[in-house]
Amino acid sequence: MDSIQLELKRLSDTEKLGILLGRSAVPGDVICLDGDLGAGKTTLSQAIAKGLDVPENCYVTSPSFAIMHEYEGRLPMYHMDFYRLHTAVEVLDLGFDEYFDLSGLTVIEWSRRAEVILPKERLSLELILNNDMSRTVVITATPDFTERLKRIESAFSGKDDDDSKISEGC
Ligand SMILES: Nc1ncnc2c1ncn2[C@@H]1O[C@H](COP(=O)(O)OP(=O)(O)OP(=O)(O)O)[C@@H](O)[C@H]1O
Ligand SMILES: [Mg+2]
Repeated sequence: MDSIQLELKRLSDTEKLGILLGRSAVPGDVICLDGDLGAGKTTLSQAIAKGLDVPENCYVTSPSFAIMHEYEGRLPMYHMDFYRLHTAVEVLDLGFDEYFDLSGLTVIEWSRRAEVILPKERLSLELILNNDMSRTVVITATPDFTERLKRIESAFSGKDDDDSKISEGC
């Protein structure tokens, strides 16, 4: 498994990473977001939706209460939040594992609450809230995601801030 670490110094960095992830998503992808409370998992999910061309008026909020929201973009996006769940069995009872096999992008906040039922192939992001309020993210890719991880890393670290050029790289 390949891993990279990126520094998200400000909100716009979190948004830039999310847009890159959304643009590079392919049908059936699963992206897991874990880490500190308030570190930016929902912010990242919103930017992923933007990168998937979900219309701006379909505002992505935390699905903590409904646990799952579906959005229509270039691909469907299934946004889940396992914060309130305590066992993997609860996820299975709700039938959420069935979404992993559909041709959309599944984004899961607090995925570790149900780690045992997650698909083997997934992109995992661990967000860390630093003392200076910046964020650090560690992204781990299983084999299906390693090529994309490299492209995201170079697009993210590139000095060129032109979004249209970034999208070509993904
Ligand atoms: N790189 C960043 N620098 C500074 N602030 C950021 C950064 N990324 C996100 N934020 C801010 O962090 C705050 C909390 O974000 P968010 O609600 O997305 O966290 P979360 O991880 O989903 O929280 P929870 O653990 O409750 O689900 C938001 O106000 C957002 O603007
Ligand atoms: Mg959240």
